[in-house]
Amino acid sequence: MKAITVEPKKPGTVRYEDIPEPDVREGSVLVEAIAASVCGTDIEIAEGKYGWAPPGKTRLVLGHESLGRVIDPGLNSPFKKGDLVSGLVRRPDPVPCPNCAVGESDMCRNGQYTERGIKEIHGFMSERWRIEPEYAIKVDPTLGILGVLLEPTTVIVKALETVLAVGQRSFWEPKTLLVTGAGPIGLLAAAVASLSGIEVHVLDRVETGLKPDLVRAHGATYHTGSVLDLGFEPDVIVECTGVGSVIAESIQKVGAGGVVCLTGVGAGGIAPRATADIAAAAVLKNNVVVGSVNANKRHWYKASDRLGRLDRAWLSRLITRYEKPENFKQALERKPDDIKVVIRFSEI
Ligand code: BGC
Repeated sequence: MKAITVEPKKPGTVRYEDIPEPDVREGSVLVEAIAASVCGTDIEIAEGKYGWAPPGKTRLVLGHESLGRVIDPGLNSPFKKGDLVSGLVRRPDPVPCPNCAVGESDMCRNGQYTERGIKEIHGFMSERWRIEPEYAIKVDPTLGILGVLLEPTTVIVKALETVLAVGQRSFWEPKTLLVTGAGPIGLLAAAVASLSGIEVHVLDRVETGLKPDLVRAHGATYHTGSVLDLGFEPDVIVECTGVGSVIAESIQKVGAGGVVCLTGVGAGGIAPRATADIAAAAVLKNNVVVGSVNANKRHWYKASDRLGRLDRAWLSRLITRYEKPENFKQALERKPDDIKVVIRFSEI
């Protein structure tokens, strides 16, 4: 079968090539790929900046945002032939650490977790893939191709759950939430947060076009410019850019008792203010800066509910480009008008 593979940490090594059929040890459920969407992490892996091949191998099958159709459910399976499924990304570490031991591998404490398409286990950008039944999630068939957006939604659901958990350390009724960055994660964060009735604001560099339209379409307010220039102090900031200056400004701007949740993975940058000054502002306002990565099965369950409640026409506008797997080069390139790029392996 064909798959999109890469030699991690070596830029320019992505190929669409023949590889053996998936090994039954990878799971008893056999799935035919329908689609896999591309996220910043895939692009970083393709650029040689991130990623790990399985032990003893040099190449990794890319892809962690999946949608597929069950072709063989396996013995005593909760699935039947034809079910649409998506696969959980992370697997627990082998020790296991306390969090992996209780099913919270998203909170892994020793870093020995593995991730499909990212860290030491093959991903979902292959014509067929196998999965353990406990790590496959049924996708609402009425979502169709939009089911490929489930994984990024899980990341948001976990981040918002984390914000709520932190906020509840004291009396807290948050009224305003700011999302920084109107990429796929930021737009989904704004849409999912809107479901709870909170007043949502989104800030991005882009001044016109699809991003402001998509934000306004579900009643949120769109801003450009600096976070510091906003005319209010958000109770919650979900930071989705990973850009140093935006992070520092968010920590300064969030209201007293507020929470800044970091979801972007950036690198480098120059500290625009001394760290102790930023920390002092947080201390004096009881603010919390919290990181959030990945998602466990509880978040996948909730994400499936939230995605199902979002407007289908709005969701379909998030997918700005479909590519065939053989056009992997274009799929893994950032183009100015892209929000979400989806690689289509087969018709739904
Ligand atoms: C994925 C997460 C993963 C993280 C770090 C993200 O792109 O959505 O599932 O944990 O990368 O590898």
